[in-house]
Amino acid sequence: MARKFFVGGNWKCNGTSEEVKKIVSILNDGKVASADVVDVVVSPPFVFLPLVKSSLRPEFHVAAQNCWVKKGGAYTGEISAEMLVNLDIPWVILGHSERRQLLSESNEASCLCAKRLYFVGDKVAYALSKGLKVIACVGETLEQRESGATMDVVAAQTKAIAERISDWTNVVVAYEPVWAIGTGKVATPAQAQEVHSELRKWLQTNVSADVAASTRIIYGGSVSGANCKELAAQPDVDGFLVGGASLKPEFVDIINAAT
Ligand code: G3P
Repeated sequence: MARKFFVGGNWKCNGTSEEVKKIVSILNDGKVASADVVDVVVSPPFVFLPLVKSSLRPEFHVAAQNCWVKKGGAYTGEISAEMLVNLDIPWVILGHSERRQLLSESNEASCLCAKRLYFVGDKVAYALSKGLKVIACVGETLEQRESGATMDVVAAQTKAIAERISDWTNVVVAYEPVWAIGTGKVATPAQAQEVHSELRKWLQTNVSADVAASTRIIYGGSVSGANCKELAAQPDVDGFLVGGASLKPEFVDIINAAT
């Protein structure tokens, strides 16, 4: 089954309104493959979502970088899935490793601040139930890789999602090895392909052949204009979730990596 290429740009906690306008104009002027060939989703910080959504070329879409695990209410500082839907923000990134590491969001982990159990899977299920599309992030730390636990970790993270959802239509899985994020140490094409293919096999065994065949598994971790083509050539790499390079003109090259 042909899977449409997917390129996400995770701007993380970066930008001023002037810088955001500059990035948007670079994207709007970029010569990119058509929307039939690649889905492009950029994810600015919450405060810039309306500005980016209103000024970005119409075939590109926007994502929030997180949302709350249930209906809004007395959760200071949180943004609910309902708010994103109300602003017509179609996508959300969930389970990013920076939130897993820094805020103890995990398959099952208590969030020290709110003394509540966060389940990344519950967040994915709730966001989907409200009509959002989800980029669900998984990935191992360097220590876990060096101890040979990569697939155990990635499978457990994916299982925590699979146990809570039944419809994968609006889910893109992002494999982001923590040791490659923001480090310049990109996974080799062989390393990325190995985990993507094992992850697809896990979906085939534990969810269904259709979900395994149709779900896009994208790679994140020091993707650049220089390494994207080789990574994109891997049969189970269906695109990218890009951090640092998504703030630069080379993001246009990454969008075109599969053409
Ligand atoms: O979500 C994408 C991000 O974690 C990858 O960051 O800067 O290594 O491309 P970067």
